[in-house]
Amino acid sequence: MNLQDYLRKQQPAETVCELVSVITGAVATIKSEFLGGDEKTGIFNIYGEEEIKIDKKANQILIDVLSKSGLVSQIASEEEKEILQCNSNRAHFAVTLDPLDGSSLIPTDLAVGTIISIYGNGDVLSGLGEISAAFYILYGPLTLIVFADQKGVSQFVQDKNGVFQLVKEKILIPDGNLYGSGGLRKDWLPGHKKYIETLENEGYKLRYSGSGVADIHQILTYGGVFSYPALQEKPQGKLRLLIEVGPWCYIIEKAGGLGTNGKTRILELTPQKVDERTPVYVGSKNAVRRAAQFLEQ
Ligand code: AHG
Ligand code: MN
Ligand code: MN
Repeated sequence: MNLQDYLRKQQPAETVCELVSVITGAVATIKSEFLGGDEKTGIFNIYGEEEIKIDKKANQILIDVLSKSGLVSQIASEEEKEILQCNSNRAHFAVTLDPLDGSSLIPTDLAVGTIISIYGNGDVLSGLGEISAAFYILYGPLTLIVFADQKGVSQFVQDKNGVFQLVKEKILIPDGNLYGSGGLRKDWLPGHKKYIETLENEGYKLRYSGSGVADIHQILTYGGVFSYPALQEKPQGKLRLLIEVGPWCYIIEKAGGLGTNGKTRILELTPQKVDERTPVYVGSKNAVRRAAQFLEQ
């Protein structure tokens, strides 16, 4: 079954299927920009990170197709300072985008991704508990989509004709033993350091590429925990609550896992602004729950 047929079966609203196909229809164009996409632009986004060409291109491609669709009233993108308001005459979805996640890996030819969340209520700042569906596209040796909504999590792989075909459904995250943590060890707070050392002593294996979607996908597939913690000089860590962490936690929780900031479930939080950051622990329930015990000490 392909993604379109799956969504038609799964989703009561035809407009959701259309919205997802508008986004996934842009995949080939985004991929065509990878070659030469690592050129520096000299422009820094609101997080102080220098954008490379592919960040700008992927952002523009997705904003163009979404705003032309007439289905979206708001877009919040990692590469835009403000929430974009669009003319929507056919539906009023709000969408968050990380157009190219892990873009620093483009020069190394490792896997990168696109992260999307959809708010059926048209308001990206209404709270992460309001997410109606979320998915990521992972551009690796294969191009795949992991799509989550109320009914669960499914994986699709792009075939030779460019069509996304269902390969796994009702995905559940196993209770595995992989871990990855962002930030320099010297900047970790004592509780986080103790937590990671405990996992290492128990035989957890390090898997961290610096491309969030690839790292999350590995955790979803094999189990364990992905973290980007609070750091000495950055109590909110690095990752973006609305645009990266919210959709990841939605997907992982729909697969039976858990996502927290170390204390509170991420999906109970309401971002106050587009660029709000948060520490994150996301993955198998068991490993994520244990983080809280160390962080309280
Ligand atoms: P982006 O490429 O969209 O800026 O995101 C990078 C993010 C995320 O993909 C990854 O998990 C993390 O930043 C890596 O950060 P470090 O390089 O600090 O490990
Ligand atoms: Mn990102
Ligand atoms: Mn990005």
